[in-house]
Amino acid sequence: MKIFRCRICGDTYLGHKKPTNCPFCGANLRYLVPGSQWEDENDVVLSTISQRNLEEALKIEVSNAEFYKCAAAQSKDVELAGMFKALSKIEAEHASIHAKLLKMDSHGDVYRSDACNGDDEKNLEESLLRETNAVDRYTLFASQSEEPRVKEVFEALAEIEKDHIALDRMMSSRFVI
Ligand SMILES: [Fe+2]
Ligand SMILES: [Fe+2]
Repeated sequence: MKIFRCRICGDTYLGHKKPTNCPFCGANLRYLVPGSQWEDENDVVLSTISQRNLEEALKIEVSNAEFYKCAAAQSKDVELAGMFKALSKIEAEHASIHAKLLKMDSHGDVYRSDACNGDDEKNLEESLLRETNAVDRYTLFASQSEEPRVKEVFEALAEIEKDHIALDRMMSSRFVI
């Protein structure tokens, strides 16, 4: 077994081989480093705009995590329920990445929206909208970041949310007659 650690979320993966993506936040394998080489990069002095962007990003992730939790609970389809549950965990992990950069101990008081739709097809449509919004916002936030670490985090997260869009499109194709 080897020890790998993610430079984006900070979590540790134990396994024989490096996975293609961080199992916790979904970051591309290039962000996974041997455990001995990892260092905490989150002690960054934030500009006013990065502070504001990270606060908005935190709200996006908390809301999306709650939406996916609701979508997982209402789905009767084992594959989709599993996918929504995994997305809920990943988006919650993203919320904690932003919280770390914002030096917040907890983010439990951030606005939550846990409403989801009554059927899988509508939840997949809403997922696509939410992921597309996340990519758009993170791409903008990355371009506005003066701090290399904040830019890197927003770029890594935009890439992950693009993977989620591809997943939504693949799963939506089953509803096309
Ligand atoms: Fe990660
Ligand atoms: Fe996310």
